[in-house]
Amino acid sequence: MYVVAIISQKGGVGKTTLATALAVEADRRGRSAAIFDLDPQASATFWKDTRGSDRPAVAAVPPARLSHVLKAAAEGGCQYALIDAPPVAKDLAYEAAQVADLVLIPTRPAVLDVMGMTRTLELVRLYGRPSAVVLNMCPQQGREIRDTEEAIRQLGADLAPVRMYSRIAYSRAQQTGLAAQEVEPDGKAALEISLLYKYTLKRLNAQGGQHGAR
Ligand SMILES: Nc1ncnc2c1ncn2[C@@H]1O[C@H](COP(=O)(O)OP(=O)(O)OP(=O)(O)O)[C@@H](O)[C@H]1O
Ligand SMILES: [Mg+2]
Repeated sequence: MYVVAIISQKGGVGKTTLATALAVEADRRGRSAAIFDLDPQASATFWKDTRGSDRPAVAAVPPARLSHVLKAAAEGGCQYALIDAPPVAKDLAYEAAQVADLVLIPTRPAVLDVMGMTRTLELVRLYGRPSAVVLNMCPQQGREIRDTEEAIRQLGADLAPVRMYSRIAYSRAQQTGLAAQEVEPDGKAALEISLLYKYTLKRLNAQGGQHGAR
C-alpha cells in the first residue's frame, strides 16, 4: 500500500480537494483507495456523507490511531491511502508526515501561501520524507505562477509537473460529494488530476512503499 499525505500549514489551499480527487482517480483506475481524515473539521468525511457511495472509503481517524489504522487498511487490501491533514496543527502534520511514502504540499501561487508552504516543507524535511509541492488554484494569467515556481526551485523542493488551475469544476465537486473529473469527465480539471495521479505513482513506484501489501 502506498501512503500519500497531503499537508499544508496554510488553510484553504486544496488539501481536501486533492485528497478526494486523487482517491476517486485511483478508484476509477482500479486501485483500492481510501482517505484517512485527520482534520477535526472533517471536510473529507462530510464530502463522503454527501457522496452517497462507499467508494472511495473515507474514515475519520484520531491521530493517535493513524499507524494502526493504516496497517489494518494495508492488510485489508487498500492499495492507495490518502491522508487529509488539517491546517495549522503542527503535531498532526508530523503524524501524517511520519507515515507517508510521499507528501504532497499544495500551495496557491501567492506570497502568504508560499510562506506557509515553506514552513510545511521544513517540517516534512525533518522526517526526510519524499515530497512535492503542488501548485493549486493557479490564475489564468499574471506572473505569480512563474514567481512561485522560482521560489520553489530556490528552496530545492520538487515541484509536481502539473498546474492545477482555478476552475469551477473543483469547487462544484467539493459541494456535491464528487471529484472534478466526475463533474466534467472531459474537462481540463480531469486532465490535471490524472496527470497529478500519474506523477504520484511514478514517484511511489520509483521509491517503493513502506507499508507493504501493494
Ligand atoms: N483548483 C481549484 N479551483 C477552484 N476551487 C478550488 C480549487 N481547489 C480548491 N478549491 C476550493 O477552495 C476551497 C478550499 O479547498 P479545500 O477545502 O480543498 O482546502 P483545504 O486546504 O483542505 O482547506 P482546510 O485547510 O480548511 O482543510 C474549497 O471550496 C474548494 O472547493
Ligand atoms: Mg481540508
